[in-house]
Amino acid sequence: MGGEQQQTGFAIVGAGGIALSHADALARSTRGRLVSVCDTNARAAAQLAAAHGARPETEFSAVLTDGDIDAVILCTPNRTHVPLGRAIIEAGKHLLLEKPLALTSADAEMLVRRAEDLGHVLVVGHTHRHSDQARAIAELVHGEEIGDVRYIHIVMNGGWLWGGWSSWVLDRAQSGGHALHNGVHLMDLAAWWMNDRPIAVRAVGQKVTSAALAIHDYLVIDLRFANGAVARCEISRAEIPRDSSFTEMRVVGSAGTVERRWDAEGLLAWTDRAQGAWSPGGAVARSFSGQIERFIDTIADASRAFPPARDSLEVIRWAEAAEESLATGCSITIGALR
Ligand SMILES: NC(=O)c1ccc[n+]([C@@H]2O[C@H](COP(=O)([O-])OP(=O)(O)OC[C@H]3O[C@@H](n4cnc5c(N)ncnc54)[C@H](O)[C@@H]3O)[C@@H](O)[C@H]2O)c1
Repeated sequence: MGGEQQQTGFAIVGAGGIALSHADALARSTRGRLVSVCDTNARAAAQLAAAHGARPETEFSAVLTDGDIDAVILCTPNRTHVPLGRAIIEAGKHLLLEKPLALTSADAEMLVRRAEDLGHVLVVGHTHRHSDQARAIAELVHGEEIGDVRYIHIVMNGGWLWGGWSSWVLDRAQSGGHALHNGVHLMDLAAWWMNDRPIAVRAVGQKVTSAALAIHDYLVIDLRFANGAVARCEISRAEIPRDSSFTEMRVVGSAGTVERRWDAEGLLAWTDRAQGAWSPGGAVARSFSGQIERFIDTIADASRAFPPARDSLEVIRWAEAAEESLATGCSITIGALR
């Protein structure tokens, strides 16, 4: 460990929009500290570094050789995740990698193998897993309160695009398309709650905001599981009004239902035994704090990885299948995964 008081020393590489949430989470942590902020854009690096008393850096190679840095949070555009992530792991640093893990399953497999071979932590930032409501649903579902899960519907809709309508996200070469860019969040949640892997993926998409878009701003991905259960993952950036943003989650089981409605912060659940309401909020700050604390736990004990890197690799396979389904109109069968 580098740094004072045995704190884990972190660098953030890529000082754009999401880096702010990671830097804030580190500022709230007593176990991690931000040592350095690296961005090819010197102003972006300087601004975030100054706000957190960290060193600004424009040379990525300097992060790799900095002995005060134990771990890197990589927040650069999706296309760069594998080459930069590989260099970080090979330099002996642990890696909290923003989603998606990679743009192809072959690249994802390579990166996960590299981390396993070298014994370094690789965790993908599936931040929604750390949200209060997602964890509360997992507790109910995995506690078998609602019996066998038959159907999951996750909705994450809004009328805005993170980074704005000129963002690199709209460039398929940089983001991988909407299933890889945002779909991975929903598919990861669905498979985690279902405690299973889909056997087939089918996706339909629309270009609502403009027919000229290179990615589908409205997307529905259906995951089919071996026991007949289905998870529907719906993600839209095309809602009106444009500043709307809402999340809905519904898990239907053989013995009850748990639901998080768009206009409520809490959860509702009803089963044969009782009806209940919980009030876990959706505070994003707590998701990022939970994520960083769990990542630091994982550096000490690799079995704590959440999600395990191989789960994130599988999500890339399903996202790849979803993009193929969008292109062909077919349902895509998922092959043997391990
Ligand atoms: N977990 C979440 O909920 C969540 C939310 C939003 C974005 N993300 C992910 O976070 C990542 C960053 O997204 P963003 O919206 O913050 O992007 P952004 O465009 O706002 O910021 C990216 C930054 O990376 C810098 N950069 C690009 N190439 C670089 C390089 N080679 N070396 C150093 N810096 C480089 C850019 O100058 C920019 O400042 C993406 O992978 C995205 O998918 C995750």
